[in-house]
Amino acid sequence: MTDSPTPKLRSRAWFDNPANIDMTALYLERYLNYGLSLDELRSGKPIIGIAQTGSDLSPCNRHHLVLAERVREGIREAGGIAIEFPVHPIQETGKRPTAGLDRNLAYLGLVEALYGYPLDGVVLTIGCDKTTPACLMAAATVNIPAIALSVGPMLNGWHKGERTGSGTIVWKARQMLAAGEIDDAEFIRLVASSAPSTGYCNTMGTATTMNSLAEALGMQLPGSAAIPAPYRDRQEISYLTGKRIVEMVHEDLKPSDILTHDAFKNAIVVNSAIGGSTNAPIHLAAIARHIGVELPIEEWQEFGHKVPLLVNLQPAGEYLGEDYYRAGGVPAVVSELIRHGLIAEDAITANGRSIGDNCRDARIEDEKVIRPFEQPLKEEAGFLVLKGNLFDAAIMKTSVISEEFRARYLSNPNSPDAFEGPAVVFDGPEDYHHRIDDPATGITPETMLFMRGAGPVGYPGAAEVVNMRPPAYLITEGVHSLPCIGDGRQSGTSGSPSILNASPEAAAMGGLALLETGDRVRIDLRAGRVDVLIPEAELAERRRALEAKGGYPYPASQTPWQEIQRSVVGQMSTGMILEGSEKYQRIAQTKG
Ligand code: FES
Ligand code: MG
Repeated sequence: MTDSPTPKLRSRAWFDNPANIDMTALYLERYLNYGLSLDELRSGKPIIGIAQTGSDLSPCNRHHLVLAERVREGIREAGGIAIEFPVHPIQETGKRPTAGLDRNLAYLGLVEALYGYPLDGVVLTIGCDKTTPACLMAAATVNIPAIALSVGPMLNGWHKGERTGSGTIVWKARQMLAAGEIDDAEFIRLVASSAPSTGYCNTMGTATTMNSLAEALGMQLPGSAAIPAPYRDRQEISYLTGKRIVEMVHEDLKPSDILTHDAFKNAIVVNSAIGGSTNAPIHLAAIARHIGVELPIEEWQEFGHKVPLLVNLQPAGEYLGEDYYRAGGVPAVVSELIRHGLIAEDAITANGRSIGDNCRDARIEDEKVIRPFEQPLKEEAGFLVLKGNLFDAAIMKTSVISEEFRARYLSNPNSPDAFEGPAVVFDGPEDYHHRIDDPATGITPETMLFMRGAGPVGYPGAAEVVNMRPPAYLITEGVHSLPCIGDGRQSGTSGSPSILNASPEAAAMGGLALLETGDRVRIDLRAGRVDVLIPEAELAERRRALEAKGGYPYPASQTPWQEIQRSVVGQMSTGMILEGSEKYQRIAQTKG
């Protein structure tokens, strides 16, 4: 560590630029007015941004308001100057119509802040689902030294002596409510029990997934992702993260040095081993495109499918966030994967060492929670990438296929990976909610449920609605899940074996737009195909008729941003980014 000025610091262009003294004076004067001194600003010390995602609107990340104090102390001790600023709020559960809209908006805002202000490095405060990709996407585009700090999961939830996990308990409680086993008051008590402290979802939902993957990518200090929010260790790692970013600035260690193709491959492998969310392929594709790494969706199956499920967290398993941390967190998982040659060990991480050096000696502390590679929860737990005449790409999380589901749909000895059924098609979540329990909808135990109009354009931001429960009258008969296929997303906390993220979506005139209730559909998991069993000529005729009516209809935008995002957003298989934004790469280098 050094206090000596590093000549290439970009903040010098603002605060110490003899060639442009009148602008320098203007840049300096207003940062003085809350207590920073001229000497500090002109000292040549790195100016470190703390990109603050926590607020009262974002309860999952709110604890970052507290942790930022320890980050500042670390920055100050290492010889840097901290400047904290807000990131557009993203709260997964609170935002209407969907927080999916806000990832790209927060990305845009953060790019402008990192590019346009005198920052030499940044601490990205991550946590709730989309705050992590939004921050990493922006850091990738601007490419100044950046380190992520997770806010950490909530403590375990408990109800009557059993662990209740965020989100996962909601799916279970909804079924209990639909079956008349609990009343409304008990429903709310049960769900509220899963949120006992500050922090993000304590299940292996999208938050734990993306925070684990930020560590697997090398963008966080090793061992930091899984620390529960209220633990003292969380304060300590915040301080260490603040110290480390100052060193990273002096070393000029940038996102482009860390976010290599190997890093993404590692993240895909780790995602399978942890039982990560189906939102991960969307977000990793987005980060990869902004840093300029080719990551075709097929690589999720190529690198990820064969990997076994090791982490026994809800929704696929039993345990929760505190158990994951005590069992060793990400380093223990990576260590198991290293022993089986599945990790690119040389990938550099935020602490300046390789992921191999960081994790090789980590050990599993509780084999009930993180299984040894030889005794996994499930073999081949990664995603399948499917295509057919209804879409070009969709994914399926096979690790959550229940025994009941397997017995009902995948038990034909002649064709153990394929099944057929008649489609019932819903146009958006409102249509589903109106009709699901109506016997006139005609749902039987053989039905496949389709959800369309729920993609990035159709339902701006893409709704997490593909996992649909069966009608109440089937649940009471013991049918707890039906095959679900759609162009929306699915919450990482739901355990249903859906085929989702279908691209292109119906609103972009993908094949799902042509499907009709009653059509027979064949799903062949081994061949990786989903096809509607009607002749090509008839599909073409349906397409002509729909185009003549102006295409697949979807509701009007409600806000300016919805309209802007709809006009430029891409499909989920390629990251759902603002198309065209990926041509701005490593832009900080053009400054300072
Ligand atoms: Fe924010 Fe789950 S709702 S982490
Ligand atoms: Mg979610």
